[in-house]
Amino acid sequence: MALIPQETIDQIRDTADILDIVSDYVDLKRRGRNFFGLCPFHAEKTPSFSVAPEKQIFHCFGCGKGGNVISFVMEYEKIEFVDAVRQLGKRYGVEIKAEQGDRSNKIFTLLYDIHELAVEHYEGNLHSKKGTKALEYLSERGFSEETVRKFRLGFASDEWDTLLTKVKGANFPMEVLDKSGLFAKSSKGRFDRFRDRILFPIVNLSGRTVAFGGRDFSGESDAKYLNSPETPIYNKSDILFGLEITRDFIRKERSIVILEGYTDFLQLFQHGISNIVATSGTALTNGHVNQIRRFADSAHLVYDGDEAGRKAAIRAGYTLTRGGVKPSLVELPDETDPDSWIREIGKEAFEKAIYDGIDVLDFHIIHSGYDLNKPADRSNLAQDISVELAGIKDPIIQQHTIRRVSNLLTVEDNVLINMIKRRSRRQRDQTNPDDYNSTNFSSPADKAQLELIRLLAMGDEAILSPLKEHISTDHFNHPILRKLADQLMIDEKMNFSQLLENFEETEHRNLVSKILFEAENHTTTFQATVDCIITLEKAPLKEQISEQRIKLRKLEQKGDDASHLLKEVISLQSKLNSLNNRRDELLNLEP
Ligand code: CTP
Ligand code: MN
Repeated sequence: MALIPQETIDQIRDTADILDIVSDYVDLKRRGRNFFGLCPFHAEKTPSFSVAPEKQIFHCFGCGKGGNVISFVMEYEKIEFVDAVRQLGKRYGVEIKAEQGDRSNKIFTLLYDIHELAVEHYEGNLHSKKGTKALEYLSERGFSEETVRKFRLGFASDEWDTLLTKVKGANFPMEVLDKSGLFAKSSKGRFDRFRDRILFPIVNLSGRTVAFGGRDFSGESDAKYLNSPETPIYNKSDILFGLEITRDFIRKERSIVILEGYTDFLQLFQHGISNIVATSGTALTNGHVNQIRRFADSAHLVYDGDEAGRKAAIRAGYTLTRGGVKPSLVELPDETDPDSWIREIGKEAFEKAIYDGIDVLDFHIIHSGYDLNKPADRSNLAQDISVELAGIKDPIIQQHTIRRVSNLLTVEDNVLINMIKRRSRRQRDQTNPDDYNSTNFSSPADKAQLELIRLLAMGDEAILSPLKEHISTDHFNHPILRKLADQLMIDEKMNFSQLLENFEETEHRNLVSKILFEAENHTTTFQATVDCIITLEKAPLKEQISEQRIKLRKLEQKGDDASHLLKEVISLQSKLNSLNNRRDELLNLEP
């Protein structure tokens, strides 16, 4: 928690001039509105590092780093946020009084309080008349009353503002509402983010609810899960679902079972397997592993029995290895998940399967699809593995792992060591290739989201005003863009430099600074904007249609009755077609 009052941070950020600060380190030349120079963060011969004084942000188009004046100092001096703020404060003569119980602390407290109120509200709903169907659904899935109560599951009704009314009644400041992630905003105002969903409260290690996962159970929504966005109290890549309740069991065993889903977690817990957590929708991160290491030495990854689950398990296995926690991977039968499987085979057989888990290397080799009798395949696999091993910091673990790989693939240690060295060098040259790749926005839906973001950032009112109430955060499924859209929609006169501070992860800040930089050269038309909106509304329908078609084909091949699926496809198709009319309607809004 920041010890420097938020007002002081704001004052320092808004006083410090990014051009002034960067010029101390980089020789900058003006080109148009912006300034360019040789990047201080990577070696280059032609300048791709740029500073936008109007926006008070920087971005390097070569290495991808970007941010505001505070993050520049952090990166350059390799210091923490508070220290960068102090350094800038000193330079600009802003006095820093580190008070206790300051405003930023108060906001944190209020964010916890608003979540507590939300948990009570949603839990109350579930056990009232409104929640009958939701409770029935949970019980049909085999969750006991005791489990439902223990994890304080809740239900958000299909109304738009019942939580909103409650928190307004409790006099929470608007700032807290907007930062809580519990509400979305359109030009008509705020409304409840969660509607007609079963809610799983996400609790931090101090026992406070900081976010919700919301599951659709009507089958009518395009998204099975809708989750809280990241907020000052909720950092997805730090929190593990259930850990607050299970940590003593984990500590006792010094061993942990890692699952993906809320429902997997609850089902295992109910069956008496208690040393568990769920990652709930994000890949296992280094932050997760750092926490796990405090409680456990070994981890069992029990992920879904499909291609996606196995891939995720392999990645998680290597992440654990790099973090010094010994992984073992459990293979589930096709088309099952831990929730369904434990109900099928019971606790004892499940525990035995966990016990029989295998090492990540073996699991990876089995599922790599390579033929180890072919030298070319062996070489490819060795390459794949060396990418993963490059990040192992502990030399003993690294050496041990290398030896195992060299035995399994019958290649010399030295060959592997050289591969790893080449990898490490390449990784240092690029900024985190994985994260950057996941943000290359190649699909039409990603591109459409990016277009809308640029428009929101530019604030072209002629286009935006008539369309405002037709754009909502629900149009954005890319997590970073969604969060950015959220912010841009909440505050139209957003200070970009300040906005960047809401993205605490460097990679996210790099990406956002790039988007904000590029937005200024962006021109678009009313029609193009409407097409983006329609593309984004069509995307989930199209996905559902193709999923149903695959199921349909399978049924037909088996000679089973598929008429219900056919009906569903037809209804989805007509929803899709009706979006063409919506497009015409939106186009008519052009002033
Ligand atoms: N998840 C998510 N958003 C999605 C899909 C999944 O956030 N669109 C997260 C949820 O935390 C979910 C986990 O990923 O619990 C695992 O996904 P999945 O296996 O699809 O869901 P289950 O929890 O198994 O849900 P259910 O059994 O109800 O289908
Ligand atoms: Mn499931």
